[in-house]
Amino acid sequence: MVNNAWPLLEVDELRVSFPLSGGNPFSWNRPRIQAVNGVSLRIHPGETLGLVGESGSGKSTLGRAILQLEKSTGGSVRFDGRNITHGLSSDIARLRQQTAMIFQDPFSSLNPRQTIGAGIAEVLRVHHKVPPAAIAARVAELLTLVGLQPAQADKRPGALSGGQCQRAGIARALALEPRLMVADECVAALDVSIQGQIINLLMDLRERMGLAILFIAHDLAIVRRLCDRVAVMYLGRIVEEGPVEQVFRLPRHPYTAALVAAIPEINPDLPLPADPLAGEPPSPIAIPPGCAFHPRCRYARPSCRTGSTPDTRLVADHAFACVLDRNTGEADLPFE
Ligand SMILES: Nc1ncnc2c1ncn2[C@@H]1O[C@H](COP(=O)(O)OP(=O)(O)OP(=O)(O)O)[C@@H](O)[C@H]1O
Ligand code: SF4
Ligand SMILES: [Mg+2]
Repeated sequence: MVNNAWPLLEVDELRVSFPLSGGNPFSWNRPRIQAVNGVSLRIHPGETLGLVGESGSGKSTLGRAILQLEKSTGGSVRFDGRNITHGLSSDIARLRQQTAMIFQDPFSSLNPRQTIGAGIAEVLRVHHKVPPAAIAARVAELLTLVGLQPAQADKRPGALSGGQCQRAGIARALALEPRLMVADECVAALDVSIQGQIINLLMDLRERMGLAILFIAHDLAIVRRLCDRVAVMYLGRIVEEGPVEQVFRLPRHPYTAALVAAIPEINPDLPLPADPLAGEPPSPIAIPPGCAFHPRCRYARPSCRTGSTPDTRLVADHAFACVLDRNTGEADLPFE
């Protein structure tokens, strides 16, 4: 479901860097890892934005920085129209009340010594979501919502399967009644059939609650099924962003094209390129000048190797940071 109302989340030129471990901690020019390097994005109420990219591209750091779980080193985050990065503590408290994160490892986000019902009740109590007398009923309601039995409230995480724990983690996150959820590889550790159930659950919650979701994933097939839009991240930047079908069918950045080509389900009729994505991404400590993808790009021009990053261009609501123009036929990008 896509809502064209005012964006719930507005991220502008967000940056997060980490000092490199080792070396002199007091040195002014100590090298830094540029994990998020000037990211801008929008998420509307009820919208699901997929965030994809190779390992180390900065997806988790971006998700954490949006929720203020990681300190940003530049740029801004606006939630529901309020600037959070330089905002009032009341605005940050509101963000914490109205956002939630679910993680890859369902066991790690639950307290092993606490029953799942007690964990959900704790959130309801701390955030004053319902009167104390109504907590037990709300716990049962939330468990039912995520497809668990209310009687499972008495179970500890160790007594549940991975899929059941992930559902319990989602129920705990939903106890906050979040308007935005960051799901970081939340189905990656689960069996395919359980993955499908969790994806269906997220789709249902989005419809029923107007939940906005930032869905971080490696699995492009799942992103295609769940997400309205997708953003492709490379070395801390978003290199392409747009409606999911358009980006997957008509990728305009060679990096996206290579990622999509590596997923046979996306286009089973096309033969897989021999090596769609040659080499490893460069280190985020020494990001190449010009287009950071140029060392791996077979279309790179001399101008791609120097200067600043290519400007982001827009075709309708499809954005991409590449100098190529697929309409002129200068690049044989697949899936035309
Ligand atoms: N706390 C930290 N201290 C130092 N470096 C970090 C820290 N967190 C992340 N990094 C570095 O920042 C870069 C981005 O990491 P991040 O975990 O955000 O990538 P990712 O896209 O989520 O990768 P993956 O797909 O493997 O989860 C990596 O080079 C990583 O080593
Ligand atoms: S800007 Fe140049 S190097 Fe970068 S992806 Fe486009 S063609 Fe390749
Ligand atoms: Mg990650």
